[in-house]
Amino acid sequence: MRIDKMLANIGFGTRKEVKKLLKTGAVKVDGVTVKDAKQHVDPEQQVIMVHGEEVEYREFIYLMMNKPQGLLSATEDDRQETVLDILEEEDRVFAPFPVGRLDKDTEGLLLITNDGQLAHRLLSPKKHVPKTYFAVIKGEVTEADVVAFREGVTLEDGYETKPGELEIIKSGLTSDIKLTITEGKFHQVKRMFEAVDKKVIYLKRLTMGNLQLDETLELGEYRELTDEELEGLLNYQSE
Ligand code: URA
Repeated sequence: MRIDKMLANIGFGTRKEVKKLLKTGAVKVDGVTVKDAKQHVDPEQQVIMVHGEEVEYREFIYLMMNKPQGLLSATEDDRQETVLDILEEEDRVFAPFPVGRLDKDTEGLLLITNDGQLAHRLLSPKKHVPKTYFAVIKGEVTEADVVAFREGVTLEDGYETKPGELEIIKSGLTSDIKLTITEGKFHQVKRMFEAVDKKVIYLKRLTMGNLQLDETLELGEYRELTDEELEGLLNYQSE
């Protein structure tokens, strides 16, 4: 890979800025100053230093965020704050994006990465990747709802959902539930409850495939996936 591309990728500025940086003699590869932006380097094998400090190269970044309410799951928006706006600059330089959308008022597990292939695998409707949500529902969720969800419900636009696994944690004037679905239609959980005449008043995603929300993350906090989580996700095969 060209040295200018590599340094630009990890946040040393645009290709033009990196070119200038190289000209100053600040960059060394295996101890030898490199000024030519076209020079090829192998970041896996060679030691690359900028201003005397070794730089770590990597192509992909994988972040788990506990999304708070009030942020859009988008990469940019003219008026509203997005989940990317709360990332540190050092993470934003990788140009990551959220994998799938959580509504503005939904909390919980959001994977943010620049690995398009992984995102595609997790989001492809053909892959049926399960996602589990915790929700508080206005009204009493009953066994009849469990059965209805297991069979699939008809949304207001006529769409028949795939089976969902509904677990009632607490039932009453408001009910606490967990719901696992293998699709990701717009507002799906909310619309599934509307289909049985109930309203979601709080929604939080707990899992996506084999990735689980780290509950020690405060709302709005994020961290990189651990090696184990990443390996699990990359090897994840849904049914
Ligand atoms: N279903 C919804 O209704 N909203 C979400 O944010 C995610 C799933």
